[in-house]
Amino acid sequence: MQNNTFLTLFVGQTIVKLSAVNSTNTYVKDLLSNSKPLLEGTVIMADHQFAGRGQSNNVWESKAGENLTFSIYLRPVFLAVNHQFELNKAICLGILDGLIPLLGDACKIKWPNDIYYHYKKIGGILIENITKGYQLKESIVGIGLNINQKEFGELSHRASSLSKILHQNYDLADLLAQICKTIEKRYLQLKAGKLDLLNADYLSHLLRINKPGLFKIDGKEIIATIKDVGANGHLRLIIDNDIKEFDLKELTFIFD
Ligand code: BTN
Repeated sequence: MQNNTFLTLFVGQTIVKLSAVNSTNTYVKDLLSNSKPLLEGTVIMADHQFAGRGQSNNVWESKAGENLTFSIYLRPVFLAVNHQFELNKAICLGILDGLIPLLGDACKIKWPNDIYYHYKKIGGILIENITKGYQLKESIVGIGLNINQKEFGELSHRASSLSKILHQNYDLADLLAQICKTIEKRYLQLKAGKLDLLNADYLSHLLRINKPGLFKIDGKEIIATIKDVGANGHLRLIIDNDIKEFDLKELTFIFD
């Protein structure tokens, strides 16, 4: 473990750099279940994850040493369980605040928490919450960002990286420091209760908001328009002049 010179108050002030691990999220979970005290904002990063985990039990594959794969340990005790999607908004925005200066406004959030550049995925987030009663107690915020990887094999039509887009390589430690700073800023806005600001910013960066587009729902291709996101995190779509809510399992985006 080492202390850092990150320009933050707490996110990344303690950082554990691992050369290889199953998953940085699992590593944090294991530390917590062994009652190891962790400072809020501790970052665990790995050069290589051999069992990286994604949303919906998917695997997260990332070439060793080429990308950012890290987890941030947070204690959002001020958030009720039924407001947990607010944390997701703050984290998505923190990542975007770090990437937009490099990638511009084509860098978007694909609901609920994928990071996209145009129609290609460049990053993903896996937040695992530990609750106590009706409140959140601890959160493990896992983030995978494609940075210097150039080959995506059979995923190349829907995955990309900073270096593929901008034709240069990036220093992973510098980028991590920058993204920790922008995440901390958004997390502090969340803690200060600036929910309207976070919501407005989240919606303004949402891929396909207010534009008709194709979705697959119940096995059928449907044209719908994203209106907004409910407090429960469900996507609200306008379909034939009606507003309908969907969770992640109920729809897929179709990009041509
Ligand atoms: C997704 O888009 O499916 C979420 C991907 C999250 C990947 C990150 S990499 C660091 C952390 N450790 C994991 O095992 N997963 C997350």
